[in-house]
Amino acid sequence: MRKGAMAVALIWAAGSAMAAGPDISVLARTCNNCHGVGGVSAGASMPSIGGLPRDYLASIMKQWKYDERGAATMNRIVKGFSDDEINALAAYFAKKPWVPVPQKVGATLLNKGKGVISENCEDCHGPTGGDPDEDAPKINGQWAKYMELELEKYRDEGFLMPHKKMKKTVRKLKDGDLPAASHYFGAQSK
Ligand code: HEC
Ligand code: HEC
Repeated sequence: MRKGAMAVALIWAAGSAMAAGPDISVLARTCNNCHGVGGVSAGASMPSIGGLPRDYLASIMKQWKYDERGAATMNRIVKGFSDDEINALAAYFAKKPWVPVPQKVGATLLNKGKGVISENCEDCHGPTGGDPDEDAPKINGQWAKYMELELEKYRDEGFLMPHKKMKKTVRKLKDGDLPAASHYFGAQSK
């Protein structure tokens, strides 16, 4: 009886190790080149990804894989991954801490950004981008240059961006509002 129970326990343990997928840290290391160690990016047009919500990370990588979301680079990278690998990568980066990289910005742009955000973005992202709704990523101290590029994608008719409410909100802004909002969020440490 005891032996039988032990065998069952071992089989169960092996099964759950397999369910957890391959050792994802090897694959995750290939992301460092662009997204930085621990997913904290050191380059202005490259996003930090460590500490973003797991469901968010998994869903956008799957959108790229299945051609439901446009991208310059990531669509090609995720094409070769299984859904299990994508889920494991999402879990791996979601466990890292979110490390904002607050960027300096002049008072005029900061004030303008604050106004744009309290009117258009705060409900979902929080006043500083650090307290978002659960389906949105943190963007306090995310790279402003990257965010501006992302927002421009929502305004580009030919670019596939699936989130309807983001699209609607970003499309009603004026051109100067995009850099202002991006720099305001990028300047926040909390
Ligand atoms: C060659 C550079 C490069 C590599 C390597 C790379 N990425 Fe990216 N990543 C980008 C770029 C550029 C973007 C912005 C979207 C785009 O244009 O493709 C991005 C965006 C992302 C985003 C969206 C972040 C957000 O805040 O919305 C996630 C998630 C992501 N990458 C995950 C990964 C993972 C996981 C890996 C490793 C398996 C990886 N990336 C490897 C360049 C790279
Ligand atoms: C209705 C809620 C809502 C509103 C309003 C909203 N957002 Fe978003 N935002 C989201 C969600 C949800 C996402 C993730 C979208 C996805 O999964 O593709 C997002 C994504 C983003 C991203 C991309 C982040 C990344 O890491 O790639 C930026 C930048 C952003 N929002 C900025 C803004 C700005 C600036 C405003 C105001 C002008 C705004 N958002 C208004 C919900 C919202």
